[in-house]
Parts: sequence; structure tokens; C-alpha cells
Amino acid sequence: MNEHLLNSKQMASFVASGYLRLDNMVPKDLCNACLDEMKHHNGYFEVGAPFEEIWPKNTALGDTFRLPQIKGLIQSLVGPDPLYDHHFPHLTKANNTRGPDMHQDSVIDFRENYFDIQLSFFAADTPDKMGGTFLIPGTHYRNVRTSEITIYQHMKGKVWAACPAGTIYVWNTRVWHGARSNRSDKDRYMYKLRLNPTQPQIGLFDTSDLNDPSIDSILNTNHGWEGNEHRYELMQRIKLWRYVSNQPDYDVGERFMRRIEYNPQIEAA
Ligand SMILES: [Fe+2]
Repeated sequence: MNEHLLNSKQMASFVASGYLRLDNMVPKDLCNACLDEMKHHNGYFEVGAPFEEIWPKNTALGDTFRLPQIKGLIQSLVGPDPLYDHHFPHLTKANNTRGPDMHQDSVIDFRENYFDIQLSFFAADTPDKMGGTFLIPGTHYRNVRTSEITIYQHMKGKVWAACPAGTIYVWNTRVWHGARSNRSDKDRYMYKLRLNPTQPQIGLFDTSDLNDPSIDSILNTNHGWEGNEHRYELMQRIKLWRYVSNQPDYDVGERFMRRIEYNPQIEAA
């Protein structure tokens, strides 16, 4: 299993940007079988049930989310025994224009040192003309009321899923996102699965490269929209990195966090 865990650099990128794109996760024949199943979506399972118990077996989608590379991805972020939250095959019909729809799923979710994940699985080739989901990297530390961000358009740093079949985007549920228009002649499916952790999300990834010198700069990634607020964002990222990497004193640059943490009253106590 270890060979399929995220490494520390990938995890730092998830902490900084709130998402990862992983290509070639699902083989083509399995993708095609999944597409068929998505067209016959028949409801939800019990929210909060252990994922392994509740997720169907001997189906294409059942097999897909049990592929070793996907299990490794899930384990790295929410542990080996996550809970099922919900799933849904999002359909954007061919030649369908979507209006402004940027939003955040996790309204009023202020749980500290905690995040749910969403896996967005693209089972068909999804070229630029076809969509797909868009994300604003790094927005997961900015809690807003669901749709009050609908008014924001063309934010700097926006990315979207233009990807080959078999690609998975995994993202912190708090990342601002939405669906793009589908200007192609094919229906587009984005299969979404949300999972909750069942244990503290500490050191669940492969930490053998934890001291990689590039981690500082990965955490410091500027996506474009942050502007002068970049340092504020960096502080939020450092706090989460300290937690997930089990390094409570981690800091970047010239002890960046000291500027808000040094306090002689605490030192004296
Ligand atoms: Fe959403």
C-alpha cells in the first residue's frame, strides 16, 4: 500500500492549493464500464456508514474506488477506514451553457485541523470545450456563505478539469468551485464521492521525504488571487501543515509564525 501513498511534497501541495490532480488513475475499460453505471444512478447510501462496508461490490464503480492507487490516495488524506458521506454523478448535458455558479460546499464548517475530501472522477476524455469542474486553488481557508461568491468571475489562478479519461481530482471540500459550460456534443459526467476521516489526519501520507527542501516553497505557492493577503493564507497553510505532518514547531523563512506567536506573557507562564 505504501507505494500508493501521497508523498510529503504532494501533501504540502494539497495543504497549499486544496486539491491534487492525478492522471491515469483508472484504466480505460473500467472507465467505460463506470460511465454506463453513472447513467443509472439509483440513490444514496447511509450517510456516515463505513465506506468499505457500504460501497457496492462487484460493480465497475465499486471496483474503481477500491483500486490500490485510489485506496492509497484516500488513505493518505482521511485514513484507511473513512466514512461515506455522499456521492453523485453530476451531469452537464451537451451544448449546455452554465451561468455563474461559483460556490463553496462546506458552509459554516469551522472545524480546525479537519477536512473532508471529495474525489472528482472523470471517466471520459474531458477536453477544454467540454468543461469540466473548475476550482480556485488555495481558497479552502476562506469560509463563505455557499453562494455569496457567485458574483466572482474569472478569478486569477482558476483551474479546471480538462483531462483525459481516468483522471481524478481530489480536493478539500472547502475549495471554491463550480461547473463550467459544456460546449461539446457529448454529455459530461463528473462523478463525485465525499468521504470523512475516522482518525486524526496526522502523518497518514508517506513521510519519508518530510524534510525535502522544496516543501517551504510549495506551501508558499501564490495562485494569483491572494495578492497582498498572501501572507495571511500562508499562515493558515503552515498551521495545517504543522498538524498533518506532526511538526508543531514548523515554520518557514525567518520564523514567519513567530511574529504572531511570540508573547512574553506566555514565555513567563
Ligand atoms: Fe459543489
